[in-house]
Amino acid sequence: MSAGFLPEPEQSRLKAVKARWQRAGREIDMTEYVVEFGRDGRVEPDGRLDAPPFHRNHQAIRAVLQRVLAGKSGDVVEAGSGTGQHVVDFARHFPGIVWWPSDLHDAHLKSIAAWRAHAGLANIRPPLRIDLSDPAWCPELRDGSVAPLLAVFCANVIHIAPWRVAEGLFAGAARYLRADGQLLLYGPFKRDGRHTALSNAVFDTSLRHRDPEWGVREIQDLEKLAGHVGLALTEVAEMPANNLVLVFERAEQARPGSPSPVHM
Ligand SMILES: C[S@@+](CC[C@H](N)C(=O)[O-])C[C@H]1O[C@@H](n2cnc3c(N)ncnc32)[C@H](O)[C@@H]1O
Repeated sequence: MSAGFLPEPEQSRLKAVKARWQRAGREIDMTEYVVEFGRDGRVEPDGRLDAPPFHRNHQAIRAVLQRVLAGKSGDVVEAGSGTGQHVVDFARHFPGIVWWPSDLHDAHLKSIAAWRAHAGLANIRPPLRIDLSDPAWCPELRDGSVAPLLAVFCANVIHIAPWRVAEGLFAGAARYLRADGQLLLYGPFKRDGRHTALSNAVFDTSLRHRDPEWGVREIQDLEKLAGHVGLALTEVAEMPANNLVLVFERAEQARPGSPSPVHM
């Protein structure tokens, strides 16, 4: 990713940090910083897009889902599906669950539909157009044709979007989740006011330069947001590349006490 949008002092700092990080054998995962896939990369003739981070993170994410969704069936909405590759992977490995991908951008909706057709799996529904910044999303789920949801899954969205997108995500999850349903968030997060890694701090700086309303979110702020809609954080799972999965449940279902940490 180009750092050209940063003012000069930050560009130099970013270069120095990247060099240090790379010397240490680590790569700053700036490619997760995506608004629209396919702008610069390859697009298949049918519209399928490829997200490089998918190839690095899908197995670790799926492993968490395999644990938290073990033995369950029902309907899961993926918010901000992007290319649609995750939902295909999930649908393949969780045949007892019906997957509802969604996104906001037309190119992403086209890609999701194309991946769905390519996979030919019966348990993936056509993509829903969901704008999470509208707290009333989404009429198709409100008409009663879909049962209350087993889960809402959302990866790498709320830091590349204004805070109102997180507000809308939690409001909708609280509205649509069934009694034992879960909201699962994957991405980088701040803990107790601190970044969990230097790379996340640099990433956060670049996000905020791009748009002051974006940024890596603080777990405590998300817990407050959850509390306003009757959800509670029940698990923090550590993931590769300094990412986390946060699991939220209905507050009345959650056992009192701190969320349990899980090291993957
Ligand atoms: C970095 S991509 C992540 C995509 C996918 N979840 C993944 O991990 O590969 C962020 C996604 O959020 C979507 N998005 C951004 N703002 C949104 C909004 N207000 N409502 C729904 N989706 C949104 C974008 O279209 C994009 O697909």
